[in-house]
Amino acid sequence: MNSQKVCVIGCGYVGLVTGACLAEMGHGVVCVDNDRGKIKALQKGRIPIYEPGLDILVTKNRVRKRLSFAPSIKEGLKDAGIVFIAVGTPPRSDGSADLTFIESVAREIALNLQRYTVVIEKSTVPVETGEQVEKTIARYNRRRVSFDMVSNPEFLREGTAIHDFLHPDRIVIGVKSERAEKAMRDLYAPLKTKVLVTDLKSSELIKHASNSFLATKISFMNAVGRVCELVGADATQVAEGMGLDPRIGKSFLQAGIGFGGFCLPKDLEAFLYISKKVGYDFDLLRMVKDINETQRAHFVKKIEEAVWILKGKTIGLLGISFKPRTDDIRFAPSLDIIHRLQTQGAKIKVYDPVAMPKAKTVLNQATFCRNAYDAARGADCLGIVTEWPEFGELDFAKIKKLMENAIIVDGRNMLNPTRIKALGFEYKGMGR
Ligand code: UGA
Repeated sequence: MNSQKVCVIGCGYVGLVTGACLAEMGHGVVCVDNDRGKIKALQKGRIPIYEPGLDILVTKNRVRKRLSFAPSIKEGLKDAGIVFIAVGTPPRSDGSADLTFIESVAREIALNLQRYTVVIEKSTVPVETGEQVEKTIARYNRRRVSFDMVSNPEFLREGTAIHDFLHPDRIVIGVKSERAEKAMRDLYAPLKTKVLVTDLKSSELIKHASNSFLATKISFMNAVGRVCELVGADATQVAEGMGLDPRIGKSFLQAGIGFGGFCLPKDLEAFLYISKKVGYDFDLLRMVKDINETQRAHFVKKIEEAVWILKGKTIGLLGISFKPRTDDIRFAPSLDIIHRLQTQGAKIKVYDPVAMPKAKTVLNQATFCRNAYDAARGADCLGIVTEWPEFGELDFAKIKKLMENAIIVDGRNMLNPTRIKALGFEYKGMGR
């Protein structure tokens, strides 16, 4: 195999997974971050994020000396001819992406180029960012070292990021030269996966369009679910019937409290903003966003309908993370739901298998429980917010005895209503 020297800038979620996986594929990788504390921790083997399997991969490749960490781009570019930009692109209040970090990294790269280098944008960025980065590097690249700009969006899902990186459905590369295309094909050759080569802007748009489409699928199904409730149909059965058509597909058709996390909401917002900026009002996406927001209110309304008056009632909630197998609570529906319930005077008891340390830093006045049974004890209603598989395995007969009132509102349709009702619960799902 043609092993390459790679520098990954940004030791956040995307950067660390990218660096560890490229090392696992046999390349020599230096991961760089300007947060010295983070680099020191990583050098000692401490991983700052929760992602299943990442700690093992990082340790294994550090021991093999294929993966190292450095505090400056200068050090990172000493040997590397390939550099990934994987720094944050946080949302601004108007929905646009803040590209300050990308710009300053581009300048640093320009000042430290040692040889022909392929510069790859890995972070999710608005269309035309690649061109701006290219211009910035050219402007500060005083020694005129040659380089090529590439867009290579990531399609990683939190919780399964390592698997997604090493077994991708597709690798998209947006290039402007054959030399860069060859370098990218060589880099990913060990994965033996289909590589789609496009121009720079199309590649950038593929990422925003993909995430916005996934969000649209979810909101579409949630809207169908609302109609199901009104006519007495079951959204899970409707989704199953729709999903059997391969043109539709069964994934992302799960009705519930809607999508959250750092990617779908942010990318949807950014795509709306970009489309408007270039002259197209992508109204459909505004509806997708609105439907998503109303699902949370709808879930709270179901709890309210079940207990009548929320003030003074105890509501147990299972799950805080925006989806299972992650401790990520950014833009998690749970936060909005808890806020709405508390505003109406409800007392919240909550349990999540891994997200509680993070939740404790942002949630006020909620009682954090040791386990799901503890969250159910004394509750007037139990709400399921995140579909952690272990919640499906709970002893619901025991839960019934612990609760003040045996009411379950299942925000993710993860329980079997017949079984739960047979145990004596009042059960409400979403879209059924
Ligand atoms: C998403 C995309 O799935 C990845 O392909 C992409 O690379 C990533 O964003 C990114 O841009 O970096 P992720 O945010 O990890 O990945 O989460 P998803 O698995 O997509 O779930 C997003 C949200 O949708 C979750 O809150 C989930 O509960 C919700 N969801 C998902 C539904 O409400 N219904 C469904 O049927 C599916």
